[in-house]
Amino acid sequence: FIKLTDLDLAGKRVLIRSDLNVPVKNGKVTSDARITASMPTFEHCMKAGAKVMVMSHLGRPEEGVFSEADSLKPVAETLGAKLGREVRVVRDYLEQAPELADGELVLLENVRFNKGEGKDNADLAKQYAALCDVFVMDAFGTAHRAQASTHGVGQQAPVACAGLLLAEELDALQKALAAPARPMVAIVGGSKVSTKLTVLEALSEKVDQLVVGGGIANTFLAAAGYPVGKSLCEHDLIPTAKALMEKMTARGASIPIAVDVVCGKKFDENEPAVTKGVADVAEDDMIFDIGPKSAQELAEVIAKAGTIVWNGPVGVFEFDQFGGGTKTVSMAIAEAPGFSLAGGGDTIAAIQKYDIYDKVSYISTAGGAFLEYLEGKTLPAVAMLEARAKD
Ligand code: 3PG
Repeated sequence: FIKLTDLDLAGKRVLIRSDLNVPVKNGKVTSDARITASMPTFEHCMKAGAKVMVMSHLGRPEEGVFSEADSLKPVAETLGAKLGREVRVVRDYLEQAPELADGELVLLENVRFNKGEGKDNADLAKQYAALCDVFVMDAFGTAHRAQASTHGVGQQAPVACAGLLLAEELDALQKALAAPARPMVAIVGGSKVSTKLTVLEALSEKVDQLVVGGGIANTFLAAAGYPVGKSLCEHDLIPTAKALMEKMTARGASIPIAVDVVCGKKFDENEPAVTKGVADVAEDDMIFDIGPKSAQELAEVIAKAGTIVWNGPVGVFEFDQFGGGTKTVSMAIAEAPGFSLAGGGDTIAAIQKYDIYDKVSYISTAGGAFLEYLEGKTLPAVAMLEARAKD
């Protein structure tokens, strides 16, 4: 890639595509992690004396219409507080390029209000490109989308380079996946095998232990011949789960199966938790977490790992009585000497709940893009940057 730090930005019009798609409630940003992670790129460009325009999407509004609910104004407020100066939100940038002083930063209103954004429309991309001398792609969280503001603009801008956050994210992913320190352990949780099947398949080729958690684990328990009662379980995927387990065993790797589980009778905040041996799950039971013995076994696997990749909680951790497994796994990752990489929305929520933010080696800001990278897919925005580096 062309590196941002190699460019002379003084007096240049710099357009940064960031992923500032943050949760907003009642007009206030409720988690500013993505804004914080984008600050080094903003500060670098401002300090270098560039005229900085930052663009991002927020939510999934209907294209071609402005909606106050999806405005970037709350983001501008949070960003302004971090920078210690007001951040203007510019709405008419497609009609008129914003006037900017050297070192000034403005936020361009939600790109998803623009017709053609989602379909990577070439004319729209050209309009974005015309705003700048340098385009900086820093939205790793949206790098899996080939859209006008992430992909097309980069093809048409005079210069396109990788931002500091995008470069850092790719470095961390490469460190974990390209030549991982062994043993390598991946923990993949979540409710459904179907949504994570390609990730599981890709990781099953690479890792020494593939730990499955949450609803996903139930399908594997069923595949191993255990009763799962009324638990979330994708019966049609049992053969797939079996095949994955056999494939890993054949090459001396494994998908560890829980020895105990925590059950309830219904999905409810106040549902009492009952720990059972994995063979003792009753017909009317629902499995909501791994049991303490299984969690301890996992903690030992994690402690010995050279590389740990984590996506998804292993239980219904939003209810404390079913959070023991995710808590033990979180603590084990926090204490592990190996390189740990975590990503995905629910994973970040668990990291926050168990307060291990500073103890994971790298926490990705991405959800979907993180998973697509793990799947081995080419991210269109990254491919664009690679192509531009060869110009
Ligand atoms: C995300 O939150 O995963 C990214 O910001 C991408 O958002 P999208 O799924 O709406 O494209």
